[in-house]
Amino acid sequence: MEKAELIWMNGEFVPWDEAKVHVLSHGLHYGTGVFEGVRCYETERGPAIFRHTDHLDRLAKSAELYHLPLPYSTDQIGEATRELIRRNGLRSCYIRPLAFRGYGEMGLYAQSSPIDIMIAVWPWGAYLGEEGKKHGVRAKVSSWRRISPAGLIPHAKASGQYLNSILAKTESANAGYEEAILLDERGFVCEGSGENIFLVRDGQIVTPPHVASILDGVNRKSVIQIARDLGYTVVERDVARAELYLAEEAFLTGTAAELVPVREIDDHTVGAGEPGEITRHVQAKFDDALYGRAEEYLEWLDPVEPREQPPSGAGPVAQEQGSSKVTS
Ligand SMILES: Cc1ncc(COP(=O)(O)O)c(C=O)c1O
Repeated sequence: MEKAELIWMNGEFVPWDEAKVHVLSHGLHYGTGVFEGVRCYETERGPAIFRHTDHLDRLAKSAELYHLPLPYSTDQIGEATRELIRRNGLRSCYIRPLAFRGYGEMGLYAQSSPIDIMIAVWPWGAYLGEEGKKHGVRAKVSSWRRISPAGLIPHAKASGQYLNSILAKTESANAGYEEAILLDERGFVCEGSGENIFLVRDGQIVTPPHVASILDGVNRKSVIQIARDLGYTVVERDVARAELYLAEEAFLTGTAAELVPVREIDDHTVGAGEPGEITRHVQAKFDDALYGRAEEYLEWLDPVEPREQPPSGAGPVAQEQGSSKVTS
């Protein structure tokens, strides 16, 4: 990975190579951590973080679901993130906040171990490759089922849960595919190993519902809204495995991958094999939203750089530095 200069750790900016933890940190042993994947884009108005508040809210909810009281508010984590990007001099980057049970006590009820928190930012290109974004990826239905809500919490973005995604991803990569698609415990389609999934069936856009053990993706939400605003019907319903093969179009959404068409699933060609018209249409608008080119979605972007302060005495009170939202 490409290093940045600084990492924010428990309230301090520390050099990248010095951001270390004790080997007996609880999270390392039991996966007791929650995290986010967020992206900052270079827009015409400067670097801006896509749906920052939604990601921070999900981080707080994941922490709550796993009984990990966060030592900082989401506002503080948000401001630390903006400051970290500024200090690292980055114009666009991937952002990884992680809160985890640290070093202190072992065992499964280690309430006296601290909750440590860190934020790292670094340049990271398209997770499934630029080729994948243009021409689509090949995916394989995994033999591993997505974690069941009977045993874990699919709605939380928790570190330990990713062993499930890693098994699926490894299996598909070893078999020569770019991504895995997991079914839920009932056998209905759930999502990719790190993305939500959408199909086009009879001209309608279809995506698995919350009860199919999905992670409630921030980009899933954005794409549902964008597609509806473009006039498409979007239906959240259970999807049978065979519908993956019968779909006219298919695509994945996620922060790391962005919107990636799927051109083949289990060696069945999806549609005509090249990304379809609806996928292209939604993808283009989604890209506009990410890069601040769509006026109607500017409110989704959190600017990193402070706005110019008006000269004192001139006009209304300036907003707090760096925490203002981009408005049109
Ligand atoms: C398992 C899983 N599902 C779905 C997603 C997509 O979520 P988002 O759009 O919030 O990045 C991710 C990525 O965070 C993920 O890891």
